Amino acid sequence: MGSVHLFLQAARKRWARLKWRFRRAPMLKPRLALPEPPIKTTSVRDLIERDLPLVFTPRSPVREIRFLQGRDDLIEDIRGALYHLGSAIVIYGERGVGKTSLARLASEKLCKEMSSLQGIEPIYYSVSEGDTFLHILGAILPRLGVEKIVTKVQTTSTSGEKSRVNLYLAELEDKTHTETTMAAKPLVEPLPSPQVVVDHLKGKRALIILDDYERITDAETRRFFPELIKKISDNQLAVTLIVVGIGDSTHDLIRVHPSVERNLTAIHVPRLSNEQIRQIAVKGFAALRLKYEPEAVEQIVRYSANFPFYTHRLCEGIVRAYMEQARNGQRHDWTIRASDVPAAIREAIRNSPPTLIETYDLIKATERALQVAYIIAAAPEEPIARARIQEYLTAWSGEDKEIDHTLKKLVDLGVLKRPDTGQYCFCDPLQRAYVILRFRADTPAEQLARVDAALAGVTGRPRPA
Ligand SMILES: Nc1ncnc2c1ncn2[C@@H]1O[C@H](COP(=O)(O)OP(=O)(O)OP(=O)(O)O)[C@@H](O)[C@H]1O
Ligand SMILES: [Mg+2]
Repeated sequence: MGSVHLFLQAARKRWARLKWRFRRAPMLKPRLALPEPPIKTTSVRDLIERDLPLVFTPRSPVREIRFLQGRDDLIEDIRGALYHLGSAIVIYGERGVGKTSLARLASEKLCKEMSSLQGIEPIYYSVSEGDTFLHILGAILPRLGVEKIVTKVQTTSTSGEKSRVNLYLAELEDKTHTETTMAAKPLVEPLPSPQVVVDHLKGKRALIILDDYERITDAETRRFFPELIKKISDNQLAVTLIVVGIGDSTHDLIRVHPSVERNLTAIHVPRLSNEQIRQIAVKGFAALRLKYEPEAVEQIVRYSANFPFYTHRLCEGIVRAYMEQARNGQRHDWTIRASDVPAAIREAIRNSPPTLIETYDLIKATERALQVAYIIAAAPEEPIARARIQEYLTAWSGEDKEIDHTLKKLVDLGVLKRPDTGQYCFCDPLQRAYVILRFRADTPAEQLARVDAALAGVTGRPRPA
């Protein structure tokens, strides 16, 4: 009995000690399944998703001046012109080269910086098919407080055609896209002459951007604006008209009176250089807090063919694909890799304007035409001489092939043009970029390497594309 008692006593003590130890033991927290709190990753993703439409803008002009590459000199030229009363500016260049982006952002910037423009907000008008000067004045003049000579009498909805690039993209994005155009009717008879308009503009300060000017087809309207520019100049008004549109020269776009020419500043918008294209990608990725492999950026530069439209399209595609993988937990490194580029190219090709795709189908009907078109697209010289095309083709195919028939056919089809005797280039500069992208996407890697090597060997010229 005594031993049982002793045993129970020992067991009780042990139990009490265990209880005490158990009470004092620190509470263990459950182990985290993830090494980092998920909030941080989500917020980086959110920030990228928020900023992406601001940084890469293939569907619209550049939104912020910090993303406008390589146009500082042109902005200074515009500033110089704006010092003079009654001046007019013509901004011209190829399709899709960045005219609207320059006109809008330079105007915004200069209105903030120049004391003579303080308090002014640039007035922007994009010409639509069928617009007359009454439509245009009806939209612009009321914004300047001029209500007497025009009045808005009707509002019509038209398809939002802007330019071929933007129209196509708008359709892709939203088939129901419409835009409201104000139709205006003069209150006074006869129709307001440029002199009447100028009389109403006296004492006003304004910066008016008339974009897509090449779309004006109405003969009277084509005569009206040069005359208005002359009257503004003669009267030394503080109103500047910036005419923007596609053309090889100012004359191509608008013919002003010879006496106005000295008061007219012509701004030619050239294609961006490879370095400027590189900066679009580099600064864009940096703004989105993404790292990149240099080879990825080099490929983007090569495939953009100096057109920012394709740079934005490729970069946006790459970032979107990355984000999708990040959402699925497949990517965590926030790094754009060269291996991401081919998928973006395929995407860019699929979503290219139908006219570019149809023209490419015409070109690739014969192997010779495809070779000739690729040579013209990828060669560093533009336009390129017939003899040089022949040289590249001989290096590529190993034989001296006849090309005159092919060149003529491509000219007849409206694919190529001859700016000078024996010189060739694409009619649509965006077609040039598309031919490079599509050919490189469709051609197996080993064959592509052989083509690259053959073309690079042509009399010490820089490597095409
Ligand atoms: N200097 C630039 N830096 C970065 N991106 C640019 C620059 N200029 C234009 N872009 C981009 O290139 C594309 C075409 O730009 P924009 O619409 O300004 O060209 P455009 O010459 O007015 O075209 P269109 O002839 O079709 O009217 C857009 O995606 C725009 O975001
Ligand atoms: Mg434009």
